[in-house]
Amino acid sequence: MTDMNIKQAVDKSGLRHIAFIMDGNGRWAQKRGLPRTHGHKEGVKTFERIAEYCSEIGIEVVTVYAFSTENWKRPKAEVDALMKLVERYLDEFAQTVDKYQVELHIIGDTSVLSPALQQKIDRAEQLSKGKPCKLCVALNYGGRDELVHAYNALLKQGKSQITAQDISAHLYTANIPDPDLIVRTGGEMRLSNFLLWQAAYSEFYSTPTLWPDMKPADVDLAIEAFCKRSRRFGGV
Ligand code: IPE
Ligand code: IPE
Ligand code: MG
Repeated sequence: MTDMNIKQAVDKSGLRHIAFIMDGNGRWAQKRGLPRTHGHKEGVKTFERIAEYCSEIGIEVVTVYAFSTENWKRPKAEVDALMKLVERYLDEFAQTVDKYQVELHIIGDTSVLSPALQQKIDRAEQLSKGKPCKLCVALNYGGRDELVHAYNALLKQGKSQITAQDISAHLYTANIPDPDLIVRTGGEMRLSNFLLWQAAYSEFYSTPTLWPDMKPADVDLAIEAFCKRSRRFGGV
């Protein structure tokens, strides 16, 4: 599709929020005989390119799954490398914030991250406040952890009964619309604990393309598939 056509398709389809499960960095590197961390480095570049493309074509909210609550099980060297990449990205984001139209949100339990990383998160979020589009990075994020966190916050308020709205309002994604489309690269057909509550009526799209190979044209393919879906939300 041409840029104009894809913009029109986004507009017409009501596609406001795309969430990406950025999977396949390790396999991308292994295929080339490189260490897995090299795949993550390449993955950051892809993330920057794809996030920029999405805002160019009129997507209001982009969410990416960067590190799950289960990813701590990986070798320490890989976890450390991933955290370093996040730090570096946040520094770069803060330095170039004026160039972009996105408000950054880190979703997940950031309380266990290093104080230096937490500071960089706060700074990047503050600097980008009020920008028209949203970029949410799921970091130490788990859908179950998020729900437990929300229920505990509600219990603390002394609630004896809670509504679906109460839960939504206490998630890390409070005030962010649910994803319309969840794209998983790397070929797996699972959510891996991503946006469990918010995904209730999201369209799911899986592509065998490994995340570092993901191009704007692959995003177009996902959007084209989304446009052909019939979203009924339980109706007829
Ligand atoms: C996704 O790529 C990135 C993170 C989970 C941080 P993987 O590292 O899971 O790559 P594969 O699935 O092993 O290829
Ligand atoms: C999901 O990928 C998490 C991220 C992309 C950050 P994983 O590679 O951790 O998921 P599984 O282990 O294949 O389910
Ligand atoms: Mg993986």
